[in-house]
Amino acid sequence: MVLENSAVNELSNMKPTLKGPLYTSSEIFALEKEHIYSKEWIFVGYECDVAEAGQYITLNVEGENIVIVRGKDYVLRAFLNVCRHRGAKLCTDPCGKRAVLQCPYHSWSYGLDGNLLSVPNTTEFKEELVNKPAYALESIHVRTWHGLIWLSFSENPRPIEQQLDTQILLRFGELDTFARYNLASLKVAHSKEYEVKANWKLIVENFQECYHCSAIHPELTAAFPSFKSGVGTQNGIGTGAELRDDLHSFSISGKKERPKLKGLLPEDDRLYFGMTILPHVFINLTPDHIIIHRIIPISADHSKVICDWLFDPDEIAKPDFDPSDAVELFHRTNEQDFVACEWCQENMGSKAYKNGGVLVPVEQHVSVFYNYVLEAIGLAGK
Ligand code: FES
Ligand SMILES: [Fe+2]
Repeated sequence: MVLENSAVNELSNMKPTLKGPLYTSSEIFALEKEHIYSKEWIFVGYECDVAEAGQYITLNVEGENIVIVRGKDYVLRAFLNVCRHRGAKLCTDPCGKRAVLQCPYHSWSYGLDGNLLSVPNTTEFKEELVNKPAYALESIHVRTWHGLIWLSFSENPRPIEQQLDTQILLRFGELDTFARYNLASLKVAHSKEYEVKANWKLIVENFQECYHCSAIHPELTAAFPSFKSGVGTQNGIGTGAELRDDLHSFSISGKKERPKLKGLLPEDDRLYFGMTILPHVFINLTPDHIIIHRIIPISADHSKVICDWLFDPDEIAKPDFDPSDAVELFHRTNEQDFVACEWCQENMGSKAYKNGGVLVPVEQHVSVFYNYVLEAIGLAGK
């Protein structure tokens, strides 16, 4: 699917992109859902939101209602949020704290470990005859990684470290740099959602390359002059971008409003690191905050992106805490990126793009992502 492209030749030093139909076909989208999003670990939320016994959050992931709850034994568990009696949504609020999970419809009650505890009995019905273990909540694999909650719908998911730490190693060559940002200690202070009329893969490849930075990101390239060359932080192992000499923070004004994150080294103080955690997460490390994007693919030509800005809780607690200066820089960058992704999506079905386009040398690390997708959906080498 990826190799024939008349525009690619050795003299021009270009490499092929994926072909247009891979961004428009509902069959390809279904394959990606089946072999990537239903198998890999998917980021869904933050452990700090379910820190206490009985705390739960509810969400919809891949079309399933899920409840993630901290047990009395402090183990985090995830269940399909579906009552085993007649299918009602068991927990109807987005979050809360409960000693038991009681269905609002006919009051069947489940323990925080998913076991069915009680079934209201009536004159015609004997609770003691119910085979309760057969009606436990259906569980989903859940893990935490640096304070982030991940789910997998696979029956036998691969170890989460194999998916996630491997990508940190590919990005930095070691695990220590990422670890010292102490992501698990931070909290979300601001969040934005974006509806993007583009295939999720266009959003990933856009984030991975900076060839577009000088054309569409005036604020970002003003803050990080090296981006004007088209070389982004994901072009090299361990590479970070240096803030412009006269600026003091990753924000629109460049003014320093907060100390650097606890645990960072002096050499981290002026650097930005972007990284992709496949299949659908971008993590941006800055000296005083972390920005996390997650893409939720809706259809072949439609995605949702949730972008969270995380800060040290001690800073958030200060009466004059104001993240807007920091938020504005990446918010503008996001809007610029997503418009560009939509420019491309409109033409993915064009005859002109049926064989795809090309990657210039500074973008060619994106082909690792292409190969990841093609291998997952069984089209590698086809
Ligand atoms: S549907 Fe839950 S108790 Fe009836
Ligand atoms: Fe961009």
